[in-house]
This record gives sequence, C-alpha cells and structure tokens, in this order.
Amino acid sequence: MNTRPLVIANWKMQFSFSQSLQFCASHKQWLAAKAEMVNIVVCPSFPALHPIAQIFKNSPVSLGAQNCATQHDGPFTGEVSAPMLAQVGTHYCIVGHSERRQLFGETNADVAHKVDQLLQASITPIICIGETQQQYQDKNTLSVLEQQLDSVRAVLSRYPNSSLCIAYEPIWAIGTGLSADTQYLHTVISWIKEYCVAAKLPAEIVYGGSVQPSNIASIAEIPHIGGVLVGSASLDFQKFEKIVSWFHTH
Ligand code: PGA
Repeated sequence: MNTRPLVIANWKMQFSFSQSLQFCASHKQWLAAKAEMVNIVVCPSFPALHPIAQIFKNSPVSLGAQNCATQHDGPFTGEVSAPMLAQVGTHYCIVGHSERRQLFGETNADVAHKVDQLLQASITPIICIGETQQQYQDKNTLSVLEQQLDSVRAVLSRYPNSSLCIAYEPIWAIGTGLSADTQYLHTVISWIKEYCVAAKLPAEIVYGGSVQPSNIASIAEIPHIGGVLVGSASLDFQKFEKIVSWFHTH
C-alpha cells in the first residue's frame, strides 16, 4: 500500500486542453520534486491524458482519469474503456463522483462494473462516496455510505492485493465552500476505516469537498485521512501548491 499522502487534483471539465498542458508543463519540476513525498495525482479530461503522461514521463507524478466505461470494449459510442486509459499511462481513475451519480444517473451497480474494469486493467480506482444534504440532515450518512460500499465490496474481494482509494465526499460540501466539521468528519472517517478493516479492503481514505489551503490542516490531521481530493482549489496553482506543501511538511 502506498504510504505517501495522496493529493488528487480533479479538474473536472474546467481546464481547456491547452490550460491542462500548460499547468503541467509550467509546474513540472515543482510537482515532480514534491511527488517524491506526496503522491500527486493529476486528473485532466480525456484528451489531455496522453500528452500529460508524456510530460510526466519518468516522474513520480501520477495521472488519473475522471471516469471510464462499465464495459471492456465493444459498440459503445462515446465511451472510453479502462484498458484504453491504461494504454495511455493512467494510474488512477475517479469513479462514482457525485456529479456523475447525480447528473448522469450513475448507479452503485455502474460504479461496481467500472471498479471491476479498472482493477482488471491495473488502474487504482478512486471510489467516491458521500451523502446528500437531505441525507445528512436526516442523519442517514452512514447507511448511505454502507450501501455505496456494499455495492463494490464483492468486486473488490476478487482483487485482494490491488490498491484502492475511497474518497469520502459529502455532496453538500462539493463546490459549495462548506466543508464538513472536524468532529463529524472524525466520526465518518473512523466508520469508513472500520468498514475497510472488517471487509479486508486495503484502502487509502481521502476527503473531498471544498478543500482549501485554509482548512487543509484541520482536515488532514483527522486520524485515517490519507489525503485529499481537490476540485476548485486544484485549478489555482498558488492554492494547490499550499495544499501539497502542507502534506510535504507534516
Ligand atoms: P471542490 O470539488 O473541491 O471544488 O469542492 C471536490 C470534488 O468535486 O471532488
């Protein structure tokens, strides 16, 4: 299992192709130097994956995709398979992000198929789980997380030695500027850790949802948090630099 803290940059569909390449080319040396100690995973849109893999060739910076197909290959117009991602040098892939679940109808069953495809292709899945605002208010968080984890558990048990990342992202905290309070996060992360131990899942657990330089210390110091998934702050190098540097110096 990877012991470097993970810092995942999820650029969503925010950077253009040229902005993605420019970010990586301009900060290549800095990112590569920090990636010796902090596992930096850059997740651009599909077209930028291959050129960014070239930029980071022979560098410890990792490349991640934001989605993949549920199938291995075939007549699925518009889909990109896990083996294709592996061929262009992708090490990680986000699955089940709440934007995909909510806006594109991705189900727990789809997430399980995607995880299966990724593990077959030796790509580490970053499985996003999290509750909506309503579920949070109704105090249903843990049962929602349990359903989301149960649905991938059978697949994961078929790949006992694979690396795996679980990203806890409360949906109400994504892109809203609200982040979960420390006590709440402590409870939820401990519960996820216990689930993983009981299910024998050797997962890194990361937090995502309005991670910023101003809240990184209070989030990252929570026991069992192995890193963060950063959305909007990862588009601004000054902010991203501060988040990575926090892990580098702690
Ligand atoms: P945010 O996004 O940091 O902008 O809240 C996180 C995510 O969607 O993964």
